[in-house]
Amino acid sequence: MRHLLSTGDLTRDEAVLILDTAAELAQVGDRSVKKLPTLRGRTVVNLFYEDSTRTRTSFEIAAKRLSADVVNFSAKGSSVSKGESLKDTALTLQAMGADGVVIRHSASGAAHRLANWVDGSVLNAGDGTHEHPTQALLDAYTMRARLGRLEGLRVAVVGDILHSRVARSNVLLLTTLGAHVTLVAPPTLLPVSVHTWPCEVSYDLDDVLPKSDVVMMLRVQAERMQASFFPSVREYSRGYGMDGARLARMPEDSIVMHPGPMVRGMEISAEVADSPRCTVVEQVANGVSLRMAVLYLLLGGS
Ligand code: CP
Repeated sequence: MRHLLSTGDLTRDEAVLILDTAAELAQVGDRSVKKLPTLRGRTVVNLFYEDSTRTRTSFEIAAKRLSADVVNFSAKGSSVSKGESLKDTALTLQAMGADGVVIRHSASGAAHRLANWVDGSVLNAGDGTHEHPTQALLDAYTMRARLGRLEGLRVAVVGDILHSRVARSNVLLLTTLGAHVTLVAPPTLLPVSVHTWPCEVSYDLDDVLPKSDVVMMLRVQAERMQASFFPSVREYSRGYGMDGARLARMPEDSIVMHPGPMVRGMEISAEVADSPRCTVVEQVANGVSLRMAVLYLLLGGS
């Protein structure tokens, strides 16, 4: 494995290796093991053309816990604003010695393009509406940690599937790992190609809830749609929002997930977001060890 561009590129064994490595690295950062020397002398560039709170920060912490040097590059305030292309930006960073480039970009396919231009490893941190592989991996890690298995797990992914890179990466990864995925959304928030995806589709959240071990809520991505297409909060949450009443209709040991950022009151109520059955904070914590595992396997592992 040289790059991590899509969860669809991972075999079952490769995906399990990443999850198992993340489990082994989960202790790094606590009092007894602050850091590992594995990536000493390596440079990781965080190349972010879109905003991020969780992904950029956790890649930075993960790389530092492996002793790599980290450069945070934001398109805002760089020569990108003067018209410099992605290719020239990437070649400039490579000339300064980047061993790995973590890229987030609004264009679907940007990470694949970058992988053709640079010698180092490319890690896709979200490309347009296409994929977000490390998010899906940390989601799978969290499901396995909470529920003890992935094989046979019934996972519902609910909300704005049309604009979601998290949904596609999760469908590809979870089916590789033996879970059954159902996408739940209004018809207007589903891509036309969805019936070619390896999963089921439903428009009825209340029908799917009692049959789900995991319900993953997604944000409606206003920034990727025209204002006139944005649904009203009340109408959307009535059909597709997770609240206390809906949580009560799910199996007792089931969990609610969210990749963040959440919009409380729209796709998830504060009552559910703050409940012990909601794993959103655990997902963020697991994201650090998961990203350590990916960096270790791509840049420093055997
Ligand atoms: N889940 C996720 O990608 O969050 P950020 O946009 O904050 O990185």
